[in-house]
Formats: sequence, C-alpha cells, structure tokens
Amino acid sequence: MDGLKVEEPIPGKFLLSDEGTPQERGNDYVLGMSNASLMLASLTPRTHFKSALDLGTGSGIQSLFLSEHVDEIVGTDTNSRALELAHRSAQISGIRIDLRQGSLYETVIGETFDLIVCNPPFVIAPTALFEYRDAGMEGDSVSREIVSNAAEYMNDDGWFICLANWLIKDDWRDRLIDWIAPTGCDAWVVQRERLSAEEYVELWLDDGGVTDRAEIKTRWLEYLAPYDGVGFGWIALHKRDSFFPHRYLEEIPQQLDLLHNPLAPALLEYFAGANLAHDLEDDEILERSWVAHPDVIASGHTLVQTSGLRRAVALDPEVVSSYTESDFVHAVSTAYEGGIDLIRELIRFGLLLPA
Ligand SMILES: C[S@@+](CC[C@H](N)C(=O)[O-])C[C@H]1O[C@@H](n2cnc3c(N)ncnc32)[C@H](O)[C@@H]1O
Repeated sequence: MDGLKVEEPIPGKFLLSDEGTPQERGNDYVLGMSNASLMLASLTPRTHFKSALDLGTGSGIQSLFLSEHVDEIVGTDTNSRALELAHRSAQISGIRIDLRQGSLYETVIGETFDLIVCNPPFVIAPTALFEYRDAGMEGDSVSREIVSNAAEYMNDDGWFICLANWLIKDDWRDRLIDWIAPTGCDAWVVQRERLSAEEYVELWLDDGGVTDRAEIKTRWLEYLAPYDGVGFGWIALHKRDSFFPHRYLEEIPQQLDLLHNPLAPALLEYFAGANLAHDLEDDEILERSWVAHPDVIASGHTLVQTSGLRRAVALDPEVVSSYTESDFVHAVSTAYEGGIDLIRELIRFGLLLPA
C-alpha cells in the first residue's frame, strides 16, 4: 500500500499507518505503533469489559488490543485520515470499532464506559505542527480537559488510563492534583520523566523530523520559559463509591521492560493495595494478617520487587529480616515512630498482601 506501513501488533491483527516522518507527510500524519502506544497498552487491564472508549484512536492501535477483551469499542479522533486508516485496519483484522469524528468527548456526550484509554496529542507547544501530537490547545490543557472530565464518561467501577505531559512549576504534583480533583475518583499519577525545556523541544523536533528548526526552537523555548520543565507520565483513575477518594502521586523513574513485563497487573495490584491502605482503620490494619509478596527479595536493608514496578523500600535490616514472618507488621510498628504510615505504604505498594 502506497505510503502506508503495515504492522501486526497481535498475530492476525493489522495496523495501517503512515510511512516516513510527520514532516514529510504533513499535518494529518497518522502515527503507527510508538513507544507511548505500547506504554498505554502495557498499562491497560486486559480483563473482560463490556464497553471501552479509545479517545484519540489514531491508527486504532489501542482498539486493536481492546478487541481481544472488550465487547463494544468506540474510537474517536479529529483526523479523518486517522479514522479512515483505523477503519481499514479494523476491516482487515476482522474486528468492529465504532469510529466517530470529533474533539475530546464531544461524540460520546451522555454515554458511559467501563474503560477509557487515551494517548492524547499531549505535546506542549506554541504552535500546532502535527495533529497526531498537538491538539492546538493552550499549554497542557488538552491533557487536563481529558482527565478532569473523565468521570462523567465512566461507569461505576470503571477505569480511565491516560498518558500525558504536564508543565512543571515548583512541585509537579500541585498541577496534577487540580486535574484529578474534579473527577472524585481514586487516582494514581506517576511521573516517569522530567525534561528541561531544551531537552523537551529537541525531543519533539527530532520526533517530527523537523529540519528547519532555529526559529521554531527559539519561540518554543520562550513559551516554556516560565516553567521549571515538563513532566511525562500516566494518570489512572478508578471510579468507586467512596466519600474520600485516595490520590497518590509519585515518581517512578526506573527502567521498566514493558514488552516482557506488562504494567497492568501492577496497576490493578496497586489499586487493590491502595483501597485497603485507605479504607482500613489503624487497629484493623494491626489486627489483620498480612503476608509477604512472593516476588519480593528481602535483603540487607531493602525490600525489592523483582516484578511489576520494581520498587525498593529501605528499612532497618532487622525489620527486613522478619519480612516473611507473621510478626513483620508488629516489627515495623514498634521499630518506627509513625510505623502505621509505613505499613500503609507497604500495603499500597503491594509489598504486604492480605492473608
Ligand atoms: C498520540 S496520538 C495516539 C494514537 C493512538 N491512540 C496511540 O495510542 O498510538 C493522538 C491522537 O489524538 C488525535 N487528536 C488530536 N486532537 C484531538 C482532539 N482534540 N480530540 C480527539 N483526538 C484528537 C490525533 O489525531 C491522534 O490520532
């Protein structure tokens, strides 16, 4: 097919996208399987769902993965070429996607979904160069709009998983707390990377294959000058009946092998742990029985996860040595002032599991 690339992300399922660079093709370039696409796919829980929304479907990569475990999929995009390629990809893959043209949530007003996935056009730039990555909205407001309005389109017990870029000024968490607060959902926000303005601009000029860059680079750096940098990461929301939702924002910079080690089990384990850590009273935590996670190595002064997010928690070596014993929780609570908070953290991280 002329000018088109064919990829096979799942055996027997095919994805059409543009060959070459965005600069060669132009504004309506349709992106294929990128690292960001794979990160979102890795984070998406693969349990059975009745309905899913793939916001900014592009080539349809997320929908292709969703077709393996979701009954009804709606894919939306503003780019008519993307929708055409997603349609052709679905046809040759023998799957059905309800494709709709429109911005953000405008084509699904009044509908709700069990799962929403979104790899938005999140690039923060003074001028929209390419539709696949620039929404043409001020600053990082496209990501904020998608996150802040998500709950309106989620069913109870529904999930929302989204990648994003955010502007950083002082503590990066403050901005993200404002984004997630209107949702009323439990939230987990992870900053994977933080780039300086210079690094950020170079990254996206390279990514677009932009050759004539001096003028645009100067304007872009001026645009980002009021900020301390740009963050990249994911935002996961879970809607459940809880008066005070739990919200946790953290940095996870360590390398993760997304292909061989999908993140979705770690995401589900995180929310299960966070629910317990948040919902249980102190005395309930202390009275309950907890067991060590089988994939954690307790050695020296650290507990290290060998799967999932590969977290490491530093503790007193004597406490670490009792990790697999029934009195571990007691050992933590007596060894540390405020030990109950530490125990909650270990539960949230999945380092302590309910027996
Ligand atoms: C980074 S691509 C993601 C493509 C694909 N979902 C993936 O995971 O690789 C973002 C997509 O959002 C689309 N888009 C741009 N502006 C949009 C808007 N206002 N509303 C919905 N989609 C938009 C782009 O056309 C592009 O297909």
